[in-house]
Amino acid sequence: MTQLTPVDPFDLVIFGGSGDLALRKLLPALWHRHRDGQFSADSRILAVGRSAMDKSGYVSQIEASLSELYEERVGGELWQSFIGRIDYLSLDVLELASWDGLVKALQHREDVIRAFYLATPPDIFGTIAQGIKSAGLMVANMRIVLEKPVGHDFDSAKEINDQVGGCFSENQIYRIDHYLGKETVQNLLALRFGNSILEPLWRREVIDHVQITVAEELGVGNRIEFYNEIGALRDMVQNHLLQLVCLVAMEPPANLDDDAVRDEKIKVLRALKPIKGDALKSHAVRAQYRGGAVDGKVVSGYEDELNSQSNTETFVALKLEIDNWRWSGVPFYIRTGKRLATKHSEIMIQFRPIPHSIFDDAHYSTEPNRLSIMLQPDEGVKLKMMAKEPAPGGFTLKPVSLDLSFEETFGIRYPDAYERLVIEVLRGNPALFMRRDEIETAWRWIDEILGGWNDSNDSTEKLDKYAAGTWGPLDAAMLLARDGREWFPE
Ligand code: BG6
Repeated sequence: MTQLTPVDPFDLVIFGGSGDLALRKLLPALWHRHRDGQFSADSRILAVGRSAMDKSGYVSQIEASLSELYEERVGGELWQSFIGRIDYLSLDVLELASWDGLVKALQHREDVIRAFYLATPPDIFGTIAQGIKSAGLMVANMRIVLEKPVGHDFDSAKEINDQVGGCFSENQIYRIDHYLGKETVQNLLALRFGNSILEPLWRREVIDHVQITVAEELGVGNRIEFYNEIGALRDMVQNHLLQLVCLVAMEPPANLDDDAVRDEKIKVLRALKPIKGDALKSHAVRAQYRGGAVDGKVVSGYEDELNSQSNTETFVALKLEIDNWRWSGVPFYIRTGKRLATKHSEIMIQFRPIPHSIFDDAHYSTEPNRLSIMLQPDEGVKLKMMAKEPAPGGFTLKPVSLDLSFEETFGIRYPDAYERLVIEVLRGNPALFMRRDEIETAWRWIDEILGGWNDSNDSTEKLDKYAAGTWGPLDAAMLLARDGREWFPE
């Protein structure tokens, strides 16, 4: 197993410290890194929140979250040393006087790494950045982390970036897309650039099309009020799915330095053909789930959960075209949705059929090769190939799969994306975070689709519906069927 290098001493200040993200993701991630011995003795975690609470109340909440979500019952010396690092401070970011407690807590700690993690709604990112500056908390070795979403369109993202950028320099700003912290997503880089056999195949002459599916079985749950304002295009496509498209489609970067990869990703975003006008009908599908059955259980429709009518999409499928030499004529079909048939995320590269068949009988029909990069729940890589079925007489071809399961191969627990990302923040490595131009370019592209939908879809009747527990609406299947293709899996 890889030896984990400890991180230099730090003070990590988490705004929104008592919120959902902090308790469900960040604190468990920090505990797991502590448990693996990655933190030096002099490192601290200061959770900051509006709720009035003492430290023991806060620790009980972390314990409840670990037990409920990770089935971990913590205790013992190691746990005590972890909670020894934690403190909870009640702070109203809008009240200047209420920053005093934080100022005091950070006093005489100017030499350690200082990271501010903003796990709050984006509309107060600017206020917090300004508050940090006004309270005199800026030090040399410092970073600020912005949780997704950074804005809800180009204008709001630009405003946030301007506000935060007025206090911190770009290389101190870490914008999170947790998909970039997933092991399998990083494995995509290993697969593409650590193997010489793939690169010559990674182009229009050999690849027919690419599919990216991020399907969720769960509905929107208790985030429904928030979700209803944004929908699937903003929630999943603007960030996670476009990032996956970039990693599949980008040119090989010269190295893994912060900007080398990001410079290549932005070129892909800039080459995306806009989906507007007539293309909105031929290239974009959106829909909302109605009641149905998931895993044998009856589940309500979105509007019943919301208790009101809504025009918010919970499913999106798009046909993307990348206008450059490598990908011209190779569509990237992407889809994501809530309450689909199963939780399944996969990138599928469909190769072209063989140019000429030497097998001229029905038994000998060949299927094109397919490379699947499985993201979740089972991480791995599969390559579909044709093989001869063993038999003394005939000669029948069958598709077989070369399977690589990462869990079986490496035999270790896959760390949650936040474990990786929090360590990268503390180490000061921004490569796995989104740069300002990436976020803004992605929003510009998304805004055209949103604008088109707003213009053409002003009544709730027009939004297509799909039954919960299926793979989405018929129109999504039609998106590919029109091109003589079909979704995989389906
Ligand atoms: C979040 C979205 O960014 O990603 C959620 O806001 C979504 O709606 C989640 O459920 C999916 O993440 P994961 O890691 O479970 O695929």
